[in-house]
Amino acid sequence: MNILILGGGGREHALAWAIRQNPKCDRLIVAPGNAGIANVAECADLDILSRADVLEFAQENAIDFVVIGPEAPLAAGVSDALRDAGFLVFGPSQAAAQLEASKAFTKEICDACGAPTAAWARFTDAASARDYVTAQGGPIVVKADGLAAGKGVTVAETVAQAHEAIDAIFDGEFGEMSVVIEEFMAGEEASFFILCDGTDCLPIGTAQDHKRVGDGDTGPNTGGMGAYSPAPILTEALQDQVMARIVRPTVAEMAARGMPFQGVLYAGLMIDNGRARLVEYNVRFGDPECQVLMMRLGGQVLDLLLACAEGRLADMSVNWADDHALTVVMASKGYPGSYRKGTPISGLEGLSETSFAMTFHAGTATGNGQVIATGGRVLACTGRGATLAEAHQRAYAQVDAIDWPEGFCRRDIGWRAL
Ligand code: AMP
Ligand code: GLY
Repeated sequence: MNILILGGGGREHALAWAIRQNPKCDRLIVAPGNAGIANVAECADLDILSRADVLEFAQENAIDFVVIGPEAPLAAGVSDALRDAGFLVFGPSQAAAQLEASKAFTKEICDACGAPTAAWARFTDAASARDYVTAQGGPIVVKADGLAAGKGVTVAETVAQAHEAIDAIFDGEFGEMSVVIEEFMAGEEASFFILCDGTDCLPIGTAQDHKRVGDGDTGPNTGGMGAYSPAPILTEALQDQVMARIVRPTVAEMAARGMPFQGVLYAGLMIDNGRARLVEYNVRFGDPECQVLMMRLGGQVLDLLLACAEGRLADMSVNWADDHALTVVMASKGYPGSYRKGTPISGLEGLSETSFAMTFHAGTATGNGQVIATGGRVLACTGRGATLAEAHQRAYAQVDAIDWPEGFCRRDIGWRAL
C-alpha cells in the first residue's frame, strides 16, 4: 500500500514509525514531515490545509490510504474532499470534526445523548456572559468557542479573573467568537482514545499528560510536556462506564444526525469519586499522547486504522502487551512563550531506535548537515517497559544523551503514577 500521513509533529513521527513496521506498508509519505520523520518515510512539501493540493498529491502518487494527524486539516474538510474522490481516509468529516472545533456543539451533543459533562451556558456578548459569571461565582471555566489551539480556556479561580477572560475573548483576541461558560469540575484528568468507524467503537488505550510547563505542575499551560500510558486511574470498570455513558451515546447521536464519526475520538475526562465526566473531545490523536500509544501498539496500528476507515471495527480487537510507555517532551527554552529558532541539537545519532526506546521528532529540520530545532516542542523521548519505572528510565536516558543547550524538559513526568 501507498500511505500518506498529513502532519509534521511528534504525533505524526510516532504514527509513521508504527505504520512503517506493518508489512502492508510499501511506500510511506508524510507531509510536511520533519528531520526525524525523514528517517522512516519520504517527506513531501504540501499545503495540508488545501483540499485541492492534497487531493492532487494523493492522485499523482497513487495513494491508497490517507491518515490525517492534526485537527486543522480535519476542520478544513480535507477528509471530505479525499473521500468524495474515492480515497480511503482515516479521520472524521468536517461536520463530525465539530466535536473538537466547537465547544458549544459538543455540549449540545452531550445534552442530547445524556453524556455526563459540566453544566454550561453559551453567550454571544460580553455583558450577559459577565452577569452569568457574577451570579454563578468562582471557580468557573471560560472557553472561547472555536479552535484556539488549546489557548482558549481559562480556569478562573475568581469572578474577576473570569470577567477578564470574557473581555479578552470579546476584544477579538481569538477572532470572532462566542463564549462557553462551564461549571468547574474537580478531580483527576485522564485521556481515553477510542477508534470509531461511524457505528462501532474500539478503545485503543488510555494516557495521562502533563500540561503545565514546570516541574510539580507549575507555570503556564502548554500543548503537553509529557505523557504516559496506561493511565492507572482509568480502570477497566471506569473505561466500561465511559464507553456506555459517554462514547457510545455520542457516536450514536452523531450517526443519527447524519454526521457519523469516523476516526479517533480522544475523550478528555475528569474523574472524581469513581465517576467520569467529559471535559472535551478531540477528533485526532493527542500529541504527545500518540507517542506513548504508538509505542505500545506498534505495527498493528495500521490494521486498526484501516479497519476504522473501512467500517470493519466490529471484527477487530487490540493485541495488548502488559506494558507501559512514557514520553518526555524536550522544548526550546522560553516555550510556551517566545523562543529562539534554529538552535543545533547533537547526540541524536548515538541513540538506539528500538521498540523500547524512540526519540520522536516534533519540531526539527536539517540545516548545515545538522539537526536544528524549529518549534516550541521539539523532541519526544519515549520509553517502553514492563513497568512504568522502566519506561521512565529509558525515556530519561535519551534526554540525558541529547546535547541541546537551548532545550529543556520537565524532570518529573509520570510522578503521579510512579
Ligand atoms: P479543554 O480545551 O476544554 O480541554 O480545556 C483545557 C483544560 O482546562 C482541560 O484539560 C482541563 O484541565 C481544564 N478544564 C476545562 N474545562 C474544565 C471544567 N469544566 N472543569 C475543570 N477544568 C476544566
Ligand atoms: N496533548 C494535548 C493535545 O494533544 O491536545
